[in-house]
Amino acid sequence: MKVLVIGNGGREHALCWKLKNDSKKPEIFCAPGNAGTAALGTNLDLVATDVEGITEWARAHRPDLTVIGPEAPLCVGMADALEAEGFRVFGPRRAAAELEGSKEFAKEIMKAAGVPTSAYAVFTDAEKACEYVRERGAPIVIKADGLAAGKGVTVAETVEQAEEAINDALGGAFGDAGSRVVIEDFLVGEEASILALIDGEHVVMLASSQDHKRAFDGDLGPNTGGMGAYSPAPIATDAVLEKVRTEVYDRTLAELKKRGITYTGVLYAGLMIDNGQPSVVEFNCRFGDPETQAVLSRWEGDIIPALEACVDGTLSEDLISWTAEPSVCIVMAAAGYPGDYPKGDEISGLAEAAEHAVVFHAGTALKDGKVVTAGGRVLGVTALGTDLREAVANAYTAVEKISWKGAFYRKDIAHRELKRS
Ligand SMILES: Nc1ncnc2c1ncn2[C@@H]1O[C@H](COP(=O)(O)OP(=O)(O)O)[C@@H](O)[C@H]1O
Ligand SMILES: [Mg+2]
Repeated sequence: MKVLVIGNGGREHALCWKLKNDSKKPEIFCAPGNAGTAALGTNLDLVATDVEGITEWARAHRPDLTVIGPEAPLCVGMADALEAEGFRVFGPRRAAAELEGSKEFAKEIMKAAGVPTSAYAVFTDAEKACEYVRERGAPIVIKADGLAAGKGVTVAETVEQAEEAINDALGGAFGDAGSRVVIEDFLVGEEASILALIDGEHVVMLASSQDHKRAFDGDLGPNTGGMGAYSPAPIATDAVLEKVRTEVYDRTLAELKKRGITYTGVLYAGLMIDNGQPSVVEFNCRFGDPETQAVLSRWEGDIIPALEACVDGTLSEDLISWTAEPSVCIVMAAAGYPGDYPKGDEISGLAEAAEHAVVFHAGTALKDGKVVTAGGRVLGVTALGTDLREAVANAYTAVEKISWKGAFYRKDIAHRELKRS
């Protein structure tokens, strides 16, 4: 069996790792991949959004299954193109991926479906947007409508900050992605991530997790793509999960269906949970990163049957089971991330770290046979433990074995849950 994974982040290394360990022992191809995926299969010199190039590769090499990792290829219609040629694809088509590709579309669907989420308004005119913000008051949240790689959202503490964010976005700071802004009421509570597999009809929620969006300890500093995650997130209690199933997934899928849109793949709900009531912060149309590293580490048994069931419309709960052991993923990043950062620094200690944890690669590359940095988030060091405290200890033991010039990581991943337990 041949499996093609599209993307080059930590999520894709985790997917390749899980696929590789499947009892079907598939041959793995990753486009374009990183130094981690190169060790599990063949990296292809193709850009993840190159629909033409990837389709051509598929025609020549006939993958039995293609798993699309990132949002960008999904939003340009990678799944549509491959399916049109008869290939089996895990990931939503372009119309369904709009749930992530346009925050306005996601809000409109949620509002129509009665999904709990914050009140909002959409603007293309900065003066009108600023007027709305002055009326509404702070805190308030300003979001670029389109894909902005985790950089398009400002949680404004003051009206002045909100106005600045509006002028930045509508002034072109995010290109086309920011030509419309969504302005949302501020939600209080604690965040959690739920990933669900969907086959067009059935929904199976995966183990819960919690990401850490801010760059620095104590949840300080700028928002990032995510600095670490743990699973499960006990804040997502059984009662919360039941609400997520009925009030978020069932209602959203029903509304999409009304509009003739079928969803297959992963639908990620970013939640704010306040007093046992979840509200949706955003949808992502793919596996989260770094949540996937934590969640897939706890998945027992094969993954291919569940992914194929999503393609075939035969998804059921019994295809998936979880170890009770919690997991933790610590992201190691390059100095300067989420701003500018250097590349090409040699990474040492990977073999020593692997004795304590699974080291998922994100922004890495091979240069003269050595693993070097090639992105902002460089590694996702992931460990299990008999309890959360032990998982955290195992992950940090591994992290401390790894070094390169300017490496940094948060030292407080899972702090909320550790304080509670
Ligand atoms: N309405 C809101 N209330 C409070 N915090 C929010 C709200 N919307 C977003 N945030 C914060 O900003 C982060 C990023 O927003 P999100 O909508 O997930 O955008 P993206 O992941 O595309 O950058 C969230 O994880 C959350 O911490
Ligand atoms: Mg988000």
